[in-house]
Amino acid sequence: HRHLLGIEGLQPQDILMLLDRAEAAVEISRQVEKKKSVLRGRTQINLFFEASTRTQSSFEIAGKRLGADVMNMSVSSSSVKKGETLIDTAATLNAMHPDIIVVRHHAAGAVHLLAQKVGCSVINAGDGAHEHPTQALLDALTIRRHKGKIARLTVTICGDILHSRVARSNIILLNALGARVKVVAPATLLPSGIEQMGVEVCRDMRQGLDGADIVMMLRLQRERMSGAFIPSVREYFRYYGLDREKLSAAKPDALVMHPGPMNRGVEIDPEIADGPQSLIREQVEMGVAVRMAVLEALAAHLPTR
Ligand code: CP
Repeated sequence: HRHLLGIEGLQPQDILMLLDRAEAAVEISRQVEKKKSVLRGRTQINLFFEASTRTQSSFEIAGKRLGADVMNMSVSSSSVKKGETLIDTAATLNAMHPDIIVVRHHAAGAVHLLAQKVGCSVINAGDGAHEHPTQALLDALTIRRHKGKIARLTVTICGDILHSRVARSNIILLNALGARVKVVAPATLLPSGIEQMGVEVCRDMRQGLDGADIVMMLRLQRERMSGAFIPSVREYFRYYGLDREKLSAAKPDALVMHPGPMNRGVEIDPEIADGPQSLIREQVEMGVAVRMAVLEALAAHLPTR
């Protein structure tokens, strides 16, 4: 593959290859000397049209650990503010001969479109409510390191499924590797036809968490909602917020994940977020390793002259 635009289209062996590469990158990242030269002489541009803490910084660190020259394009001070389109922006950057562009955009499909217009490799760092493939890969890596496998685990994804590219990418990946996936959300936060993605739909947290090995909480994306569809925080936490009482419905050794950024007291009780079952900080560490793995895998397809 020249690009990584989504989990959709990847074969299970592609996913496993990336997870295995990422395991090696975890070891490199824990060493004092972290630098490799796989991407020496290569240029990586991070082009983020939406806010990010984890994804952008980990792509920058990952590129630098592999020896690339990494440029973070500041969209808020770019000519996008003067009305330049996505495609013109991409063509402008393409003229500078980057090797890899990492893109986050608020519109689903924008990254696919951009990939057709540039001559380099493109990585999707999140496009609207469509896909966030490196998030699903880092989640899978985190799960596999704790549970030793993905197949036959029960993974329950809870919360704002409707607006979540993280949920979509995770559902595709977890199904590809043979997990059982359950989703829990109020009806207004479930996309229509979600059952066709191969998930069991639950409206109630206890029912959804029953038998769960992994509980994945999602942020309530209030900025993407309007008017009457914005639930009250107190009401939402009462029915869908993960607290100790609701978590007791999952398996006793269940582990809790959240892609971040989290809203404490909205979708998750701080006691759970910071508790012994939480993998949230480890997910961040795995984020760097997975992004190193993806960059390294794409490097094999970069032109050599
Ligand atoms: N999980 C995630 O994508 O976080 P950021 O928005 O901070 O990159």
